Amino acid sequence: MSADSWLADIRTSYDTVAVSYADQLRDGLDREPYLRAALALFADLVRAAGGGPVADVGCGPGHVTAHLHELGADAFGVDLSPGMIDVARREHPHLRFEVGSMTDLDLPDASVAGLLAFWSLIHVPDDAVPAVFGHFRRALRPGGPLLVGFHVGDISRLKTEGYGGHPMNVHVHRRRPDRVAAWLRDAGFTVEAQLLLDPDDKVPGAVLFARHGS
Ligand SMILES: C[S@@+](CC[C@H](N)C(=O)[O-])C[C@H]1O[C@@H](n2cnc3c(N)ncnc32)[C@H](O)[C@@H]1O
Repeated sequence: MSADSWLADIRTSYDTVAVSYADQLRDGLDREPYLRAALALFADLVRAAGGGPVADVGCGPGHVTAHLHELGADAFGVDLSPGMIDVARREHPHLRFEVGSMTDLDLPDASVAGLLAFWSLIHVPDDAVPAVFGHFRRALRPGGPLLVGFHVGDISRLKTEGYGGHPMNVHVHRRRPDRVAAWLRDAGFTVEAQLLLDPDDKVPGAVLFARHGS
């Protein structure tokens, strides 16, 4: 499948679910103490590295971007789906959100102090991940922290509906943390910490803390 084709499917799918996704996830962090702790630590790491703009790549409706802003980070969001970006701008008019793809990240070299990708890489096929991490490293300042969250597992599945029964057509790739860590190291990151969420669930989550190695 060509990149244009799977990117178009992701864009259309998230345009379709944008409003209901926002309704379901708006207060989602209230139920996620470990994710809130990870985000607080990430905001501290950005501050300790000198502070500056923080990109939330695959930001969806912007609730995590807004949470980072509340933690004192100069956060902005980027998402492939114009529908998601419309919702994010409506819900958080004081923040900056732009349409864009992590596969062709339109950020100048060394322009961000921190970069976060929460459950957005899950839709990117394996063969496109190294180039995405290359963009992340290029856009980050040397020493800047990266936070990546994803579903843990070995399988990929086609998601055909979601967020209230709306039609979708996206692949969801579950991955082992050591596999994602290896991709990060190959791209020039140092992996500093790993948080495994809900290890007893059918689909655990993982958050990796990495840093642009200078
Ligand atoms: C499961 S949602 C996660 C949204 C948000 N990060 C969160 O934690 O709730 C996946 C998001 O990733 C976005 N996405 C998927 N592929 C992308 C790409 N290549 N570039 C930018 N955003 C992408 C989708 O449009 C969608 O908004």
